[in-house]
Amino acid sequence: MRVGASIAAVVILAAGAPASAAAQDTEVTFTKDVAPILQRSCQVCHRENNMAPMSLMTYEETRPWARSIRNKVAAREMPPWHIDKKVGVQRFKEDRSLTDEEIATVVAWVDGGAPRGNPADLPPPVEFQDFGAWTIEPDVIVTSPPHTVPAEAGDWWGDYIVPSGVTEDRYIQAIQTRAGDLRVVHHALTYAVTDPNPMADDSSNDLFLNEYAVGKNADRYPEGTGKLFPADAQVRFSFHYHSVGEEVVDRTDLGLKFYPRGYEPDHVLWSRQLGLAGELDIPAGQITRHDGYTKMYLPGKLTGFQPHMHFLGTRQCLELIYPDATTEMVSCANFDFNWHIVYNYADDAQPIYPAGTTMHVISYHDNTAAHRGNHDANNWAGSGNRTIDEMAFGWINWYDLTDEEYQAELEARRKASSDN
Ligand code: HEC
Repeated sequence: MRVGASIAAVVILAAGAPASAAAQDTEVTFTKDVAPILQRSCQVCHRENNMAPMSLMTYEETRPWARSIRNKVAAREMPPWHIDKKVGVQRFKEDRSLTDEEIATVVAWVDGGAPRGNPADLPPPVEFQDFGAWTIEPDVIVTSPPHTVPAEAGDWWGDYIVPSGVTEDRYIQAIQTRAGDLRVVHHALTYAVTDPNPMADDSSNDLFLNEYAVGKNADRYPEGTGKLFPADAQVRFSFHYHSVGEEVVDRTDLGLKFYPRGYEPDHVLWSRQLGLAGELDIPAGQITRHDGYTKMYLPGKLTGFQPHMHFLGTRQCLELIYPDATTEMVSCANFDFNWHIVYNYADDAQPIYPAGTTMHVISYHDNTAAHRGNHDANNWAGSGNRTIDEMAFGWINWYDLTDEEYQAELEARRKASSDN
């Protein structure tokens, strides 16, 4: 048998096209295979004067980073998108994550010597939006105080709270964060602060407004939906700054475009801390799990999820516990304190739930020395608002439905799934 098989193989090789030509066809190249992946999933951040440390627009720029790209992509650390692909809802807005095939392509390209390939294969360049410009016409612009980012320093996490000048309840139709200097602002999250005397480090009553970082421009809410900006609310800017080798002073703008005065949208979008775990107990050297529960008294539609923990957080899951005690895992995401990613579900994938459903948030912390995010594996960690303390809750985005709306949506979805 074995002899026969190898003879057959030799015959095929001899009769087929020259081996080198065949190899060329299947060779993974930059121009043919890798450039399209970079265009879709990387260049939004990896280009001149943007948040990422290097540009990946051309072969010349990309080639020196090949080894590092291979490692980051294979580990699913780049692009930053940490949803567990084996659990729950899988369709999201602005999902730049790579498929297993795309990861295999990048790995094969680097392992094959990272060749350029035929210049004719190169796809036309992608036009990116200019993140330095307004794409909405804001009615109100709130600006953070000047923050000096030294030429060389560790990363800085911290908050500024700024008056908004808005004196009546208004509904936001569109919102945009405009970083003063795209190179130093790794993240800027904004919140409406309703406590008249807010504590600098307690955001538990805040309403989440906007996330700046993931290379997106304005958020425009669908017609008839809006977020409440309460009268006299202040704006909390929660920054992650990093140094870029020269001193930079940043001031970042939040632009709010309101619906007309007096207009109330049919659906008010909420974004609040839910599923807050009680006291956290995270002994040195241990991996822990804590659970938090929030009951929803109205039916609703879940539009997005953003895990929130601090340095020791490694993973968070969101489960729905229905009134009949059945459960459904909606999402699990691995967690990295460097990235505060809002995972927004695609419109027709947004879970709906009946009145009396509980949002169950499950948070994992790793206080072992093996965890890279751990700055002190010898000490117990517990709850608190300082960055070195821990937290565990989800920022949950949803809007309430009436019972009729819930029933109608449920019917529509049953019908759609039985049609398939
Ligand atoms: C949302 C913006 C964003 C996207 C999208 C993104 N990156 Fe990054 N990347 C960054 C930032 C910022 C850093 C700097 C390190 C950090 O903050 O984690 C980085 C770091 C890296 C590094 C490490 C650089 C070093 O100093 O060693 C590599 C490699 C990398 N990215 C490759 C990629 C590739 C390949 C893609 C697409 C498949 C991609 N990134 C998508 C923002 C992004």
